[in-house]
Amino acid sequence: MTATIKQEKEKHFPVLLDELISIISPHYGGTFIDCTLGHGGYSLKILEEKTNKVIAFDRDTEALKIANQLKLKFKNRFTFKNDKFSEIISLNNSEKKIKGIIFDLGYSSSQINDPNKGLSFNFEGKLNMKMGINNISAHETINNLDAKNLKNIFTYFGEETYAKLIVKKICQMRKEKNLLTEDLVQIINIVKKNKKKKIHNATKVFQALRIFVNQEISELINGLVNSFKVIPVGGIIAVVTFHSIEDKIVKYFFKNYSEKLNPSRYIPNSFKGDKLFKLIRKKPITPTFKEIKINPRSRSAKLRYAIKVSNQSDFSEFFKKFDYLLKVETLINKL
Ligand SMILES: C[S@@+](CC[C@H](N)C(=O)[O-])C[C@H]1O[C@@H](n2cnc3c(N)ncnc32)[C@H](O)[C@@H]1O
Repeated sequence: MTATIKQEKEKHFPVLLDELISIISPHYGGTFIDCTLGHGGYSLKILEEKTNKVIAFDRDTEALKIANQLKLKFKNRFTFKNDKFSEIISLNNSEKKIKGIIFDLGYSSSQINDPNKGLSFNFEGKLNMKMGINNISAHETINNLDAKNLKNIFTYFGEETYAKLIVKKICQMRKEKNLLTEDLVQIINIVKKNKKKKIHNATKVFQALRIFVNQEISELINGLVNSFKVIPVGGIIAVVTFHSIEDKIVKYFFKNYSEKLNPSRYIPNSFKGDKLFKLIRKKPITPTFKEIKINPRSRSAKLRYAIKVSNQSDFSEFFKKFDYLLKVETLINKL
């Protein structure tokens, strides 16, 4: 299978694949939505069952190459939408007999290793970070956004303790020239020079910029809510996250709407009614040592899932809970 050959060549390993497949049980048959096609690892496995169908999303045009290979092999059992997964809501009624919806958030190894994407602090040149279907780049953000708002991005999306000092240096240096990747890394290294580090100095700032540029918080929140609206009762939603902000959102979504009739005693009447999910396990599934050894990128992965048990859907509480993050994303309108 060509998709598999390509995965091996580029050393892309679908994270928590066996665990995900055992949860969504594609061997019972049905239609599945893969919200993050990437290299097609999950879709390919689901399509191995002869009668299964997959509808896949990916916002990156690079995913078209894999999508075309899958289309060639599986014909009308595979459909691809080069779109953001929040657009899942646009699926028409005939496509709605869905057994499972899966998300594998973040970036594929080939996206990270693509210098043109400007996602990594390991390459020199212009920062970009656009995943697909977006207007503003990290270059524009770092060089044009005012200090206060830049600091908010680093603090909220990177949980970066040195945000203020880093922004101060950025503002000094960008008076002289447009900052490139290497300039930003240099600034961060100067600010953090003597600090103990478990991770690369630039990890948090780069994470923050990626989230901001791709509006990942609103994408995730709308993607989850719209998935709930699309999937029938009995269907399963499964999400693999890679950092604590994503995981916090997914955990809240599943846990609150499966446990309590009113998720917050401080916000009266925001959600009343039946619980929306059955939660099979509260703790996330994480990769085994064996998987982490083969694919170190998997080390921060967490898989959470739940089964839809009711059609009622008032998610105002969910949006309110993460409003402080959603507001930071709207700073994109200032650029
Ligand atoms: C970690 S990779 C998925 C890997 C895939 N599960 C596999 O087995 O090859 C994540 C993919 O999701 C896509 N993606 C991330 N956010 C998205 C969004 N909001 N809408 C659509 N695609 C998105 C990225 O472009 C990337 O290709």
